[in-house]
Amino acid sequence: MRVLGIETSCDETGVAIYDQYQGLLVNKVYSQNMLHADYGGVVPELAARDHTRKIIPLIISTLKQVHLESKDIDGIAYTAGPGLIGSLLVGATIARTLAYAWKIPAIDIHHMEAHLLAPMLEKKAPEFPFVALLVSGGHTQLVSASHIGEYKILGESLDDAVGEVFDKIAVLLGLKYPGGAVLSKMARKGISDRYVFPRPMTDRPGLNFSFSGLKTCVVNTIMFSAHDVQTYADIARAFEDAIIETLGIKCRRALEQTGLKCLVISGGVSANHALRAYLLKMMYALKGSLFYPRQEFCTDNGAMVAYTGLMRLKAGLFSDLSILVRPRWSLEVLARIK
Ligand code: KG4
Ligand code: ZN
Repeated sequence: MRVLGIETSCDETGVAIYDQYQGLLVNKVYSQNMLHADYGGVVPELAARDHTRKIIPLIISTLKQVHLESKDIDGIAYTAGPGLIGSLLVGATIARTLAYAWKIPAIDIHHMEAHLLAPMLEKKAPEFPFVALLVSGGHTQLVSASHIGEYKILGESLDDAVGEVFDKIAVLLGLKYPGGAVLSKMARKGISDRYVFPRPMTDRPGLNFSFSGLKTCVVNTIMFSAHDVQTYADIARAFEDAIIETLGIKCRRALEQTGLKCLVISGGVSANHALRAYLLKMMYALKGSLFYPRQEFCTDNGAMVAYTGLMRLKAGLFSDLSILVRPRWSLEVLARIK
Protein backbone atom coordinates (compact mmCIF):
# COMPACT_ATOMS: atom_id res chain seq x y z
CA MET A 1 0.00 0.00 0.00
CA ARG A 2 1.23 3.47 -0.95
CA VAL A 3 -0.14 6.52 0.87
CA LEU A 4 -0.13 10.20 -0.10
CA GLY A 5 0.12 12.36 3.04
CA ILE A 6 -1.15 15.95 3.13
CA GLU A 7 -0.35 18.37 5.98
CA THR A 8 -1.89 21.87 6.13
CA SER A 9 -2.68 22.42 9.82
CA CYS A 10 -0.74 25.66 10.23
CA ASP A 11 1.75 27.47 8.02
CA GLU A 12 3.52 24.60 6.27
CA THR A 13 2.11 22.90 3.19
CA GLY A 14 3.51 19.36 3.37
CA VAL A 15 3.09 16.51 0.89
CA ALA A 16 4.75 13.08 1.04
CA ILE A 17 4.38 9.52 -0.20
CA TYR A 18 5.01 6.55 2.10
CA ASP A 19 5.20 3.00 0.75
CA GLN A 20 4.41 0.05 3.02
CA TYR A 21 7.46 -1.90 1.79
CA GLN A 22 9.89 0.75 0.56
CA GLY A 23 9.30 3.35 3.28
CA LEU A 24 9.32 7.06 2.60
CA LEU A 25 9.59 7.76 -1.13
CA VAL A 26 9.40 11.54 -1.15
CA ASN A 27 8.73 14.41 1.26
CA LYS A 28 8.20 18.01 0.17
CA VAL A 29 7.42 20.99 2.37
CA TYR A 30 6.56 24.51 1.36
CA SER A 31 6.98 26.86 4.31
CA GLN A 32 5.03 30.13 4.59
CA ASN A 33 7.52 31.58 7.11
CA MET A 34 8.35 34.57 4.89
CA LEU A 35 4.68 35.38 4.48
CA HIS A 36 4.05 35.69 8.23
CA ALA A 37 7.45 37.10 9.30
CA ASP A 38 6.36 40.76 9.07
CA TYR A 39 3.44 40.08 11.44
CA GLY A 40 5.50 38.28 14.12
CA GLY A 41 3.20 35.25 13.99
CA VAL A 42 0.88 33.24 11.77
CA VAL A 43 -2.04 35.18 10.24
CA PRO A 44 -4.72 32.46 9.85
CA GLU A 45 -6.48 34.03 6.85
CA LEU A 46 -3.21 34.47 4.92
CA ALA A 47 -2.15 30.92 5.83
CA ALA A 48 -5.35 29.38 4.44
CA ARG A 49 -5.15 31.40 1.24
CA ASP A 50 -1.55 30.42 0.67
CA HIS A 51 -2.32 26.71 1.14
CA THR A 52 -4.91 27.00 -1.66
CA ARG A 53 -2.22 28.45 -3.94
CA LYS A 54 0.47 25.89 -3.13
CA ILE A 55 -1.24 22.58 -2.49
CA ILE A 56 -2.04 21.33 -6.01
CA PRO A 57 1.31 22.29 -7.58
CA LEU A 58 3.04 20.65 -4.60
CA ILE A 59 1.07 17.39 -5.00
CA ILE A 60 1.86 17.31 -8.72
CA SER A 61 5.59 17.98 -8.23
CA THR A 62 5.74 15.37 -5.42
CA LEU A 63 4.28 12.67 -7.69
CA LYS A 64 6.51 13.76 -10.56
CA GLN A 65 9.68 13.63 -8.46
CA VAL A 66 9.27 9.88 -7.93
CA HIS A 67 7.70 9.20 -11.37
CA LEU A 68 4.36 8.16 -9.91
CA GLU A 69 0.83 8.84 -11.11
CA SER A 70 -2.55 8.86 -9.44
CA LYS A 71 -3.05 5.15 -10.23
CA ASP A 72 0.01 4.32 -8.11
CA ILE A 73 -1.54 5.78 -4.93
CA ASP A 74 -3.70 3.48 -2.78
CA GLY A 75 -4.86 5.88 -0.08
CA ILE A 76 -4.72 9.49 1.08
CA ALA A 77 -4.05 10.70 4.62
CA TYR A 78 -4.73 14.30 5.61
CA THR A 79 -4.38 16.29 8.81
CA ALA A 80 -7.91 16.94 10.10
CA GLY A 81 -6.90 18.70 13.33
CA PRO A 82 -5.98 20.19 15.69
CA GLY A 83 -4.96 23.37 13.90
CA LEU A 84 -6.24 26.47 12.13
CA ILE A 85 -9.67 25.76 10.69
CA GLY A 86 -9.14 27.56 7.37
CA SER A 87 -5.81 25.83 6.78
CA LEU A 88 -7.17 22.41 7.77
CA LEU A 89 -10.12 22.80 5.40
CA VAL A 90 -7.83 23.29 2.41
CA GLY A 91 -5.93 20.02 2.98
CA ALA A 92 -9.08 18.09 3.92
CA THR A 93 -11.02 19.29 0.88
CA ILE A 94 -8.22 18.48 -1.56
CA ALA A 95 -7.56 15.09 0.05
CA ARG A 96 -11.22 14.08 0.09
CA THR A 97 -11.82 15.26 -3.46
CA LEU A 98 -8.76 13.48 -4.86
CA ALA A 99 -9.68 10.28 -3.00
CA TYR A 100 -13.19 10.41 -4.49
CA ALA A 101 -11.89 11.07 -7.99
CA TRP A 102 -9.20 8.39 -7.74
CA LYS A 103 -11.62 5.91 -6.10
CA ILE A 104 -9.35 5.24 -3.13
CA PRO A 105 -9.91 5.61 0.64
CA ALA A 106 -8.94 8.69 2.63
CA ILE A 107 -8.23 8.92 6.34
CA ASP A 108 -8.36 11.90 8.71
CA ILE A 109 -5.22 12.20 10.82
CA HIS A 110 -4.63 13.79 14.23
CA HIS A 111 -1.70 16.19 13.86
CA MET A 112 -0.25 15.37 17.30
CA GLU A 113 -0.45 11.63 16.68
CA ALA A 114 1.50 12.23 13.49
CA HIS A 115 4.15 14.17 15.48
CA LEU A 116 4.20 11.38 18.09
CA LEU A 117 4.80 8.74 15.41
CA ALA A 118 7.36 10.81 13.45
CA PRO A 119 10.33 9.02 15.13
CA MET A 120 9.01 5.81 13.50
CA LEU A 121 10.26 7.24 10.19
CA GLU A 122 13.82 6.64 11.44
CA LYS A 123 15.85 3.41 11.31
CA LYS A 124 16.33 3.56 15.07
CA ALA A 125 12.64 3.71 15.98
CA PRO A 126 11.14 3.51 19.48
CA GLU A 127 9.02 0.58 20.59
CA PHE A 128 5.79 0.89 22.57
CA PRO A 129 5.20 1.64 25.40
CA PHE A 130 6.91 5.00 25.82
CA VAL A 131 6.47 8.49 27.20
CA ALA A 132 6.26 11.19 24.54
CA LEU A 133 7.01 14.86 25.04
CA LEU A 134 5.22 16.71 22.24
CA VAL A 135 6.51 20.25 21.92
CA SER A 136 5.35 22.40 19.03
CA GLY A 137 4.10 25.90 18.30
CA GLY A 138 0.60 24.97 19.42
CA HIS A 139 1.06 22.18 21.97
CA THR A 140 3.10 21.09 24.97
CA GLN A 141 2.01 17.65 26.09
CA LEU A 142 3.39 14.68 27.99
CA VAL A 143 1.74 11.53 26.72
CA SER A 144 1.86 7.92 27.77
CA ALA A 145 1.73 5.93 24.51
CA SER A 146 1.02 2.22 24.89
CA HIS A 147 0.04 1.39 21.32
CA ILE A 148 -0.78 3.17 18.05
CA GLY A 149 -4.00 5.04 18.88
CA GLU A 150 -3.83 4.40 22.62
CA TYR A 151 -2.66 7.53 24.35
CA LYS A 152 -3.10 9.05 27.77
CA ILE A 153 -2.30 12.70 28.34
CA LEU A 154 -0.23 12.89 31.53
CA GLY A 155 0.18 16.65 31.50
CA GLU A 156 -0.04 19.68 29.23
CA SER A 157 0.44 23.41 29.16
CA LEU A 158 -2.28 25.40 30.90
CA ASP A 159 -1.43 28.45 28.80
CA ASP A 160 1.19 29.10 26.09
CA ALA A 161 2.87 26.25 24.21
CA VAL A 162 6.67 26.08 24.40
CA GLY A 163 7.17 26.92 20.71
CA GLU A 164 4.82 29.87 21.04
CA VAL A 165 6.89 31.27 23.94
CA PHE A 166 10.12 30.77 21.99
CA ASP A 167 8.59 32.69 19.08
CA LYS A 168 7.26 35.55 21.24
CA ILE A 169 10.55 36.05 23.11
CA ALA A 170 12.43 35.82 19.83
CA VAL A 171 10.42 38.74 18.40
CA LEU A 172 11.32 40.84 21.46
CA LEU A 173 14.98 39.98 20.93
CA GLY A 174 14.68 41.36 17.41
CA LEU A 175 14.45 38.01 15.60
CA LYS A 176 12.06 37.13 12.77
CA TYR A 177 9.15 34.70 13.16
CA PRO A 178 9.44 31.76 13.75
CA GLY A 179 12.38 32.58 15.96
CA GLY A 180 12.77 29.38 18.02
CA ALA A 181 15.76 28.00 16.15
CA VAL A 182 17.49 31.41 15.78
CA LEU A 183 16.96 32.21 19.47
CA SER A 184 18.60 28.91 20.33
CA LYS A 185 21.58 29.80 18.14
CA MET A 186 21.83 33.17 19.89
CA ALA A 187 21.70 31.41 23.29
CA ARG A 188 24.87 29.47 22.46
CA LYS A 189 26.83 32.76 22.70
CA GLY A 190 25.19 33.61 26.01
CA ILE A 191 26.90 33.48 29.40
CA SER A 192 25.11 30.99 31.59
CA ASP A 193 23.76 32.19 34.96
CA ARG A 194 24.09 35.93 34.30
CA TYR A 195 20.30 35.79 34.43
CA VAL A 196 18.24 33.07 36.08
CA PHE A 197 14.56 32.59 35.27
CA PRO A 198 12.03 30.42 37.12
CA ARG A 199 11.34 26.75 36.33
CA PRO A 200 7.54 27.06 36.48
CA MET A 201 5.43 24.48 38.33
CA THR A 202 8.39 22.25 39.15
CA ASP A 203 8.07 22.97 42.89
CA ARG A 204 4.72 21.17 43.14
CA PRO A 205 3.54 17.73 42.10
CA GLY A 206 1.92 17.08 38.74
CA LEU A 207 2.84 17.04 35.09
CA ASN A 208 1.16 20.17 33.76
CA PHE A 209 3.10 23.14 32.47
CA SER A 210 2.60 26.89 32.55
CA PHE A 211 4.85 29.24 30.62
CA SER A 212 3.08 32.60 30.71
CA GLY A 213 4.72 33.66 34.03
CA LEU A 214 8.16 32.79 32.70
CA LYS A 215 7.34 34.73 29.54
CA THR A 216 6.38 37.84 31.55
CA CYS A 217 9.55 37.55 33.60
CA VAL A 218 11.70 37.42 30.45
CA VAL A 219 9.75 40.30 28.85
CA ASN A 220 10.36 42.49 31.92
CA THR A 221 14.05 41.59 31.96
CA ILE A 222 14.41 42.56 28.30
CA MET A 223 12.64 45.88 28.93
CA PHE A 224 14.82 46.88 31.87
CA SER A 225 18.20 45.59 30.67
CA ALA A 226 20.82 46.99 28.33
CA HIS A 227 20.06 46.46 24.64
CA ASP A 228 23.33 45.06 23.39
CA VAL A 229 24.18 41.83 21.61
CA GLN A 230 25.80 40.11 24.62
CA THR A 231 22.93 40.98 26.99
CA TYR A 232 20.40 39.59 24.49
CA ALA A 233 22.44 36.40 24.12
CA ASP A 234 22.66 36.06 27.92
CA ILE A 235 18.88 36.48 28.26
CA ALA A 236 18.28 33.97 25.44
CA ARG A 237 20.58 31.51 27.22
CA ALA A 238 18.82 31.89 30.58
CA PHE A 239 15.41 31.59 28.92
CA GLU A 240 16.37 28.43 27.01
CA ASP A 241 17.96 26.91 30.13
CA ALA A 242 14.75 27.54 32.11
CA ILE A 243 12.56 25.93 29.43
CA ILE A 244 14.84 22.91 29.00
CA GLU A 245 15.22 22.23 32.70
CA THR A 246 11.46 22.56 33.22
CA LEU A 247 10.74 20.10 30.41
CA GLY A 248 13.46 17.76 31.68
CA ILE A 249 12.13 17.71 35.26
CA LYS A 250 8.61 16.90 34.03
CA CYS A 251 9.85 14.20 31.64
CA ARG A 252 11.76 12.53 34.45
CA ARG A 253 8.66 12.71 36.63
CA ALA A 254 6.48 11.19 33.89
CA LEU A 255 8.95 8.32 33.47
CA GLU A 256 8.99 7.70 37.22
CA GLN A 257 5.19 7.81 37.39
CA THR A 258 4.70 5.36 34.51
CA GLY A 259 7.72 3.18 35.24
CA LEU A 260 8.78 3.52 31.59
CA LYS A 261 12.38 3.80 30.40
CA CYS A 262 11.83 5.11 26.90
CA LEU A 263 11.32 8.78 26.10
CA VAL A 264 10.29 10.14 22.69
CA ILE A 265 10.41 13.85 21.84
CA SER A 266 8.74 15.29 18.80
CA GLY A 267 7.25 18.49 17.37
CA GLY A 268 9.07 21.62 16.21
CA VAL A 269 10.84 22.38 19.50
CA SER A 270 12.32 18.85 19.62
CA ALA A 271 14.68 20.09 16.89
CA ASN A 272 16.38 22.11 19.64
CA HIS A 273 19.98 20.87 20.07
CA ALA A 274 20.35 21.94 23.70
CA LEU A 275 17.10 20.18 24.65
CA ARG A 276 18.25 16.99 22.93
CA ALA A 277 21.65 17.13 24.64
CA TYR A 278 20.07 17.70 28.07
CA LEU A 279 17.60 14.82 27.66
CA LEU A 280 20.24 12.48 26.22
CA LYS A 281 22.35 13.03 29.33
CA MET A 282 19.33 12.57 31.58
CA MET A 283 18.25 9.34 29.87
CA TYR A 284 21.80 8.00 30.03
CA ALA A 285 21.83 8.61 33.79
CA LEU A 286 18.43 6.91 34.09
CA LYS A 287 19.68 3.95 32.00
CA GLY A 288 16.85 4.60 29.56
CA SER A 289 16.73 5.70 25.93
CA LEU A 290 15.76 8.81 24.02
CA PHE A 291 14.30 8.90 20.50
CA TYR A 292 13.67 11.86 18.23
CA PRO A 293 13.09 12.36 14.53
CA ARG A 294 15.60 14.07 12.26
CA GLN A 295 15.23 17.87 12.03
CA GLU A 296 12.95 17.93 8.96
CA PHE A 297 10.49 15.53 10.61
CA CYS A 298 10.38 17.56 13.86
CA THR A 299 8.62 20.51 12.26
CA ASP A 300 5.38 20.07 10.30
CA ASN A 301 5.66 17.73 7.32
CA GLY A 302 3.64 15.36 5.16
CA ALA A 303 5.85 12.31 5.85
CA MET A 304 4.55 11.83 9.39
CA VAL A 305 0.97 12.18 8.11
CA ALA A 306 1.53 9.63 5.32
CA TYR A 307 3.10 7.16 7.79
CA THR A 308 0.27 7.57 10.34
CA GLY A 309 -2.22 7.24 7.50
CA LEU A 310 -0.64 3.97 6.35
CA MET A 311 -0.94 2.54 9.86
CA ARG A 312 -4.63 3.45 10.04
CA LEU A 313 -5.60 2.54 6.46
CA LYS A 314 -3.80 -0.81 6.77
CA ALA A 315 -5.98 -1.50 9.82
CA GLY A 316 -9.08 -0.94 7.67
CA LEU A 317 -9.95 2.51 8.99
CA PHE A 318 -11.05 5.30 6.64
CA SER A 319 -13.21 8.43 6.75
CA ASP A 320 -16.55 8.94 5.01
CA LEU A 321 -17.29 11.45 2.25
CA SER A 322 -18.03 14.40 4.51
CA ILE A 323 -15.19 16.88 4.75
CA LEU A 324 -14.67 17.01 8.47
CA VAL A 325 -11.99 18.97 10.33
CA ARG A 326 -11.50 19.26 14.08
CA PRO A 327 -9.64 22.40 15.17
CA ARG A 328 -9.81 21.02 18.74
CA TRP A 329 -9.33 17.30 19.10
CA SER A 330 -7.97 15.22 21.99
CA LEU A 331 -5.39 12.50 21.39
CA GLU A 332 -7.23 10.37 23.95
CA VAL A 333 -10.33 9.77 21.79
CA LEU A 334 -8.48 8.17 18.87
CA ALA A 335 -9.17 4.61 17.83
CA ARG A 336 -6.60 2.06 18.95
CA ILE A 337 -5.19 0.02 16.09
CA LYS A 338 -5.47 -3.70 16.58
O1 KG4 B 1 5.58 21.37 15.03
P1 KG4 B 1 5.75 22.70 14.41
O2 KG4 B 1 6.43 22.77 13.07
O3 KG4 B 1 4.37 23.41 14.20
C1 KG4 B 1 3.29 23.27 15.04
O4 KG4 B 1 2.61 22.20 14.97
O5 KG4 B 1 3.08 24.20 15.83
O6 KG4 B 1 6.51 23.61 15.48
C2 KG4 B 1 6.91 24.92 15.19
C3 KG4 B 1 7.53 25.53 16.43
C4 KG4 B 1 7.79 27.02 16.29
O7 KG4 B 1 7.32 27.66 17.46
C5 KG4 B 1 9.32 27.11 16.20
O8 KG4 B 1 9.87 28.31 16.69
C6 KG4 B 1 9.72 25.95 17.06
O9 KG4 B 1 8.81 24.92 16.71
N1 KG4 B 1 11.12 25.52 16.79
C7 KG4 B 1 12.11 25.58 17.71
C8 KG4 B 1 13.27 25.11 17.08
N2 KG4 B 1 12.96 24.75 15.80
C9 KG4 B 1 11.62 25.01 15.64
N3 KG4 B 1 12.10 26.00 18.99
C10 KG4 B 1 13.27 25.94 19.68
N4 KG4 B 1 14.42 25.51 19.13
C11 KG4 B 1 14.48 25.09 17.85
N5 KG4 B 1 15.64 24.65 17.34
ZN1 ZN C 1 3.04 20.52 14.31
